[in-house]
Amino acid sequence: MSVLAIDAGTTGVTAVVVTSDGRIQAKGYQEFRQHFPQPGWVEHSAEEIWQATLEATREVLGKVDGSELTAVGITNQRETIVLWDRETLGSPRRAIVWQDRRTASICDRLRDEGHEDRVAELTGLRLDPYFSGTKLMWLAENEPHTWALVQSGRYAVGTVDSYLIARMTRGTWHVTDVSNACRTLLFDLEAGDWSEELCGLFGVPRDALPDLVPNWGEVAPTDPKSFLGLSLPIAGIAGDQQSALFGQTCFDDGESKCTYGTGSFILTNTGSSVVRSDAGLLSTAAWRSPEGEMTYALEGAIFVTGSAVQWLRDGLQIVGNAAETAAIAQTVDDTDGVVFVPALTGLGAPHWDPHARGMIIGITRGTTRAHLVRATLEAIAFEVRDVLETLPELTTLRVDGGAAANDLLCQFQADQVGRAVERPEIVETTALGAAFLAGLGTGVWGSTDDLRDTWALDRRFEPGGDREALDASYALWSRAVERAKGWAE
Ligand code: G3P
Repeated sequence: MSVLAIDAGTTGVTAVVVTSDGRIQAKGYQEFRQHFPQPGWVEHSAEEIWQATLEATREVLGKVDGSELTAVGITNQRETIVLWDRETLGSPRRAIVWQDRRTASICDRLRDEGHEDRVAELTGLRLDPYFSGTKLMWLAENEPHTWALVQSGRYAVGTVDSYLIARMTRGTWHVTDVSNACRTLLFDLEAGDWSEELCGLFGVPRDALPDLVPNWGEVAPTDPKSFLGLSLPIAGIAGDQQSALFGQTCFDDGESKCTYGTGSFILTNTGSSVVRSDAGLLSTAAWRSPEGEMTYALEGAIFVTGSAVQWLRDGLQIVGNAAETAAIAQTVDDTDGVVFVPALTGLGAPHWDPHARGMIIGITRGTTRAHLVRATLEAIAFEVRDVLETLPELTTLRVDGGAAANDLLCQFQADQVGRAVERPEIVETTALGAAFLAGLGTGVWGSTDDLRDTWALDRRFEPGGDREALDASYALWSRAVERAKGWAE
């Protein structure tokens, strides 16, 4: 028995097959294009996400016996909004991505109108372009012809999970789960349902939104004609960060993880209560069981970490691939005073400044690419420290995601935060979480205890280094962050 999991992330789609002992048996991956139509704007073609999903799945199916598969789980980049025609499944425009900053002025306007406190109270979020609500408002204001077809019911609105489910079921199903819904600004966190009040405020017709289903349990069968001949129950859905929390088996109150992906996201399970932060963390839904029991989390969302490395590769073209950054960074002892604040799409937790922009400071005639590469890895560790400063009770940090394979980064991280960093054997925890959900939903695993048994430690990084020097470099970082704020205002 095995489970297929699709992880539709920000820069590519991963498909994995997970066996009942919790191992990844095979993997496929397909990157897709990033569109930057204006400074601060980020878009994806929904069709390209779907084609990448098919390609990654085709690749993985070529490596396993498809008849062993019992279910499919889906996890996805959150907040990104997709519109599609309910009949043709074609999208009238590109998806507006979570990183997109175009709605900063709409957020300012809503704040000036006095809506911030009520929005935060209902959603656990804040008025920031990150979330879907203001992206939809922007569409209504700037593309009225498209929006009219949302209002008439012809176009469906959803996050990437619901779009993929629509594609896999030939448009029969329009559903999502609480971990995705709660990132839209349209979801009442305590009530666990879409909010009429918020739909009214953001001008989104409730009928355009997907129905809510539990995070595990059979939702719908895939249509073999649409999905590579596969007829499997879709039995697990979760936004990627909640999925990673599940994949790290952080099922209990107080258990936490940090995923290094395009951005980095620290989530702490807060059990059945919505815990609020006054230090810049978000309150969010983790998952809902088929019995209706909600689990919540606190989240520190950092927008740009892995994508800063991607920018070194594709933008500056000073590295060939992410894997070589550790070796390059190790050719120098330190950054020689260079600090890189990768606020390439503004700053998320705990600073929350959509007007901040990236900054490299401290460059001299002696600066080399090695200093800049090292400064990039250090920036990731500093950004995570910024969030962990608000979570003093956390003693050990479980890490995952692609960059967790980088030993130098894990050691930087442990040194900077002064806490142990634990890396599991499987760092593809996002996809693993979706497989766990789908497998739990179809009896591959009987309980979360069975899943916990599959978690295995690869390496524990103990904090070390010269505390004074580490704190001095962090102080320099903090000064630089202040300078990056407000740049694009
Ligand atoms: O909230 C955005 C997040 O879901 C994106 O995750 O892994 O694509 O960086 P990732």
